[in-house]
Amino acid sequence: MSLSIRLTINGAPRDIELNDARVTLLDLLRERLAMPGTKKGCDRGQCGACTVLLNGRRVNSCLTLAATLDGAEVMTIEGLADGDRLHPVQAAFIDHDGFQCGYCTPGQIMSAVGLISEGRAGDDPDRIREGMSGNICRCAAYHGITLAVQDATR
Ligand code: FES
Repeated sequence: MSLSIRLTINGAPRDIELNDARVTLLDLLRERLAMPGTKKGCDRGQCGACTVLLNGRRVNSCLTLAATLDGAEVMTIEGLADGDRLHPVQAAFIDHDGFQCGYCTPGQIMSAVGLISEGRAGDDPDRIREGMSGNICRCAAYHGITLAVQDATR
């Protein structure tokens, strides 16, 4: 049985036929829509590499069933920059070396964008670390990540 959903992804409406009600938003993005910017780490809600914004809120796309998303708005890392101009959070990650290997970076950046728009980042490093605690960096670039979020919040 197939299911039709309409999603807005990075501002563009997409009509999607799902043949499997179990497909996750992460697999939909990466495998069906050729949007590999959102990363798959654990695929079980523990690492945050797959973070996207769903109706403006941070979610783990590996835990989100695409079939539940009819009418939703999704923002991925591919939708952040304005042409050649990076989003302020992207620029801050570069300015503060908020990454090493870069694999977790799209999820870190989407989580930071969500945290800032929720008004929960503030200027306090402890609050930022707590707010970003769902995003694991195996290279441990946490100092730069915290500085980047702090800078982008100002
Ligand atoms: Fe989704 Fe790790 S891939 S939380």
